Amino acid sequence: MVKSANKLDNEKKVFKPNYMLVEEAHVKNWEAEIEKGKDMEKYWAEKAEQFEWFQKWDQVLDESNKPFYKWFTNGKINLAYNAVDRWIHTDKRNQVAILYANERGDEKKLTYYELYREVNKMANALKNLGVEKGDTVSMYMPMCPELLISMLACNKIGAVHSVVYSGLSVGAFVERMNDAKAKILVTADGTFRRGKVIDLKKIVDEAMLKCHTIETTIVVKHAGNPIHMSELSGKEIFYDTLLEGEPDECPVEEMDSEDPLFILYTSGSTGKPKAVLHTTAGYMVGVATTLKTIFDIHNGDLWWCTGDIGWITGHSYLIYGPLLLGTTTLVYEGAPDYPDPGIWWKIVEKYGVTKLYTSPTAIRHLMRYGNKYPTVYNLSSLKILGSVGEPMNPAAWMWLYRNIGQEKTPIMDTWWQTETGMHMISPLPVSHLKPGTPTLPFPGVDIDVVDENGNPVPVGEDGYVVVKKPWPAMFRTLYKDEKRFVNVYWKDIPGGVYRAGDMARKDEDGYIWIQGRSDDVLKIAGHRVGTSEVEAAFSSHPAVAEAAVIGKSDPVKGQVIKAFVILKEGYKLTTKLISELQRHVRYELGPVAVLGDIVQVDNLPKTRSGKIMRRVLRAREEGKDLGDLSTLEDG
Ligand code: WT7
Repeated sequence: MVKSANKLDNEKKVFKPNYMLVEEAHVKNWEAEIEKGKDMEKYWAEKAEQFEWFQKWDQVLDESNKPFYKWFTNGKINLAYNAVDRWIHTDKRNQVAILYANERGDEKKLTYYELYREVNKMANALKNLGVEKGDTVSMYMPMCPELLISMLACNKIGAVHSVVYSGLSVGAFVERMNDAKAKILVTADGTFRRGKVIDLKKIVDEAMLKCHTIETTIVVKHAGNPIHMSELSGKEIFYDTLLEGEPDECPVEEMDSEDPLFILYTSGSTGKPKAVLHTTAGYMVGVATTLKTIFDIHNGDLWWCTGDIGWITGHSYLIYGPLLLGTTTLVYEGAPDYPDPGIWWKIVEKYGVTKLYTSPTAIRHLMRYGNKYPTVYNLSSLKILGSVGEPMNPAAWMWLYRNIGQEKTPIMDTWWQTETGMHMISPLPVSHLKPGTPTLPFPGVDIDVVDENGNPVPVGEDGYVVVKKPWPAMFRTLYKDEKRFVNVYWKDIPGGVYRAGDMARKDEDGYIWIQGRSDDVLKIAGHRVGTSEVEAAFSSHPAVAEAAVIGKSDPVKGQVIKAFVILKEGYKLTTKLISELQRHVRYELGPVAVLGDIVQVDNLPKTRSGKIMRRVLRAREEGKDLGDLSTLEDG
């Protein structure tokens, strides 16, 4: 029996599963499935059988070189083959794989067979450009079918993709491009956003003044934006010209289970962004299994993940998970409130979306408009809803449940990270739910909340989220930075466990209540933004001597940035300078860096070794006791 949610939160309700969903669910008994998952290697090995392997693995898990774990050793497999080719020999051949729609009302459908042909053409084109197995290909693109095609084309020939989120701007883009050292970049002429076209190619052109590895830039004509093809970024060629005459068959590369699949950048608390590396087989197994089990994917589903492909959510659950399960994935390009805040519900009705996966920020944004918009549309196709990115506050949970789910659809609050690759803490459709918690670790995943010595904390007390055993979709390292990989994640807490960087509490049912990050990483609208990256952006402005930033809570975005700046001699923080700084930071980092206040200070609290004590700034901001300041420079 599940007890109420206790004092941890004022929302005390427990929601029982919808029996209609239980009847058709792949997993009908949560506890039994968790029990099964305790024999971890057996559990994941069984799940690996869902794929077509060129050669089966020797060993499920190789722990001989911790924390550099290996899964399904010596197995040979290909992701694109399993996500696309495999289906064209089945009755899914002519089923829609990708359903693209945008804010202008355009739509495009690609069946599995059509997708197969497009992927092959792009794969051949990349090969002709000299891309070989293990090479990196970068992408800076809107949510469009060609992005999915390009990523799958990389998989098919064994190239490693590095997608940079198109909402990141010049500075952030340059840093990621130069780190990955790709020779090929795929981009587009623009993206649609709230009735305007954002000129991505212009951002690329500016970035290319500082990127020196790109030899060929492939440009997708997507937004009909008149662009300038330059020679700045080496050879530039339009995507459709490049693919002209390419054969629609391409041999598949047999990849080792542990061959690199992609890198994806995410922000850490210090220094440059982290290049998280995922490899092939374990990632496929983890992603497909979690999506199938948590969202109960069946034939006939229409899956919609509203996250952007440029983040891990899009990689794992917009492209790879759904295609590996042979379902139809909706790719929507546009904002949730344009042309009006009913657009998402209109799309659910129009296409008959059955499973919707979104974020707390989007929900909080849309709930401000009340139920006026959702009531206009027929949302009865929806069966399961989901959320990711930051804690789902009970008010947002309840709004979603009542107004969108019409009290029939459970909400799967999934906790995971770029590094974990797959859902780690999540209910299943058969679970008892409490608004505000992702409930329990997924079967086959071993997570606990511990103190700094690695001992489990008592019920209701704050602790660190750790993963105690390896999991198949785990990242294998930080690309070209093994030292940082070991130091950041595997050292701080004894016992060889993975430290996630989040704080949490457990309630008397063992349900995990995520409290937020324990490091200097902000969560703005669910996106990870490193404080040091924002500070570097401020400091690169000629008026700024030094800057420190902290997160300030925001009712919709979760957090926004509050900046403290020390200006150089002769500068004053006028309204003009404030807006110039805002523009500058946005230019460097992009719209992800949502600025709140900027204030001028004469000095910043620092440790004796010169590190900024953001904790002091935060405490001052919240009017709290400042705690132990003994290491503060000026006492
Ligand atoms: C961080 C990871 C994984 C896709 C999106 C974010 C926070 C994520 C939840 C949730 C509370 C959550 C954590 C985590 N987070 N999901 N359901 N409840 N917090 O990926 O950018 O790597 O961020 O997002 O703080 O550490 P990411």
